[in-house]
Amino acid sequence: MKMRGNWPGPITLRRGWSLATARPWNDESPNAHLRVIRGTGDFLRDAALAIPIKGGSVLSPPLAAGSTSMWEQAGFQPHLVLDMFQRDLLARQAAPAIPVVTGEEAEWARAAEIDRAAFESLWRLGTAGLKEALAATPTSSFLTVRSDTGETTGFAIVGAGSSTGYLQRVAVDPAHTRQGYGRALVRASLGWARSRGCRTMLLNTQPDNEPAGRLYEDEGFTRVVAGLVIWSLNRQGET
Ligand SMILES: CC(C)(COP(=O)(O)OP(=O)(O)OC[C@H]1O[C@@H](n2cnc3c(N)ncnc32)[C@H](O)[C@@H]1OP(=O)(O)O)[C@@H](O)C(=O)NCCC(=O)NCCS
Repeated sequence: MKMRGNWPGPITLRRGWSLATARPWNDESPNAHLRVIRGTGDFLRDAALAIPIKGGSVLSPPLAAGSTSMWEQAGFQPHLVLDMFQRDLLARQAAPAIPVVTGEEAEWARAAEIDRAAFESLWRLGTAGLKEALAATPTSSFLTVRSDTGETTGFAIVGAGSSTGYLQRVAVDPAHTRQGYGRALVRASLGWARSRGCRTMLLNTQPDNEPAGRLYEDEGFTRVVAGLVIWSLNRQGET
């Protein structure tokens, strides 16, 4: 297994034709996130065991029901269930009631702070994870909302493939929730994806996230029954 990069920075794992990438799950857990670009279950298992974490678990990206066999073969087990939401972008949609702007470079630190405050530890992305979310699609945008005093109160990361938009992240500072910022960010993200020719918007979130679920359903999303699962390989107890 050839490893390139310096952990805890992102690394690539390569054996012959097989290729995977890994990074810490976030800034505060011992877990790693593994993504396979190409390879078999055997490669996947060896790659998961080669990541230089001390304890913790190796976690997969959210996987749809039909794409788990390789992970199962590699010894991973279902770990966390996510609900997927979908919205037709050709259906009528309202404009944001609060201005949403393209975020500035200087706002990333504040976005990471909001992300930390808005999500419980397992789901925090950290700065590297936020940047990865931005880079996950061919085109993407970092959108922000600001208070009357100019403070950044929330952000969204939205991306586009050829005909599908992905709402990768929405978070509002807990000190500023319930003031319409989240709804404005969702609407602006829908508008952004539609203006890039996308016909559908997808996102996923934890099934018990009621504020987000209500907001998405209110903005025309429907919950897709066959959701997504993050699989894990436990590396605790290793010496
Ligand atoms: C979900 C989130 C983005 C909503 O942001 P917000 O600025 O508070 O949302 P808004 O003020 O625009 O509220 C829009 C609607 O969302 C729903 N909602 C928001 N907070 C809610 C809560 N605590 N309980 C129930 N519904 C809620 C309501 O339907 C609300 O409409 P209403 O105020 O007219 O009843 C915010 O709570 C947040 O950042 N949560 C943590 C991060 C997260 O879960 N992100 C999304 C998952 S990836």
